[in-house]
Amino acid sequence: MKKLLLINGSPRKGNCAIVLDRVATSVGSDVIVDTINLKDKNITDCYGCSMTCSFEKGCVKKDDMHDILIKMLECDLMVIACPNYFQNVTGVLKRFFDRTTPLYGERKLRNKKLIFLFIGGLPCEVTEATVPFCANGWTRPMKVKWLNTYILQATERNNFIDKESSEAKILNLIKEVNEELKIGD
Ligand SMILES: Cc1cc2nc3c(=O)[nH]c(=O)nc-3n(C[C@H](O)[C@H](O)[C@H](O)COP(=O)(O)O)c2cc1C
Repeated sequence: MKKLLLINGSPRKGNCAIVLDRVATSVGSDVIVDTINLKDKNITDCYGCSMTCSFEKGCVKKDDMHDILIKMLECDLMVIACPNYFQNVTGVLKRFFDRTTPLYGERKLRNKKLIFLFIGGLPCEVTEATVPFCANGWTRPMKVKWLNTYILQATERNNFIDKESSEAKILNLIKEVNEELKIGD
């Protein structure tokens, strides 16, 4: 069975959660879906002992992160959703990125398929100009296979600004996820 891992970097159950829920319910019963709302997890800051950091030895911090790293290693495709916070990813997502360092030394996420979804309150071009660049600071050293980026505009919960174009993007995201999960069947 294929495994789809959905990671939400928002500190609230808002627009990212709405889109990820739609992705989760779009896949067939032959796919195992795991949704991680990082805000609900006990993930503390990276301690910065990176010279001695390894997955085999295990992180010195004993919290929810170890189980998440295993889910990342085991999945076939990850979708990471995150709001634009001051032209950057949220602190929640950044803390999570930092704590993936045990997978960095041996590039354990090399070629792991990843799709990003970023949602900002301002027009999509604003988010597009900055947030993917911030995420690139993690994807490039990790050597993940960054397949695509979807960018939406929404302010209040479930208030997607350009409804038609937002819906088209969500449907494209769903289509891409389902196609990627079929590859190699
Ligand atoms: C602290 C904070 C900072 C934000 N900064 C930006 C920003 O710089 N640019 C932008 O387009 N939207 C910004 N927003 C708006 C959010 O990105 C937007 O409301 C998004 O839809 C929230 O996603 P969520 O509902 O999944 O949390 C900010 C929101 C908050 C709370």
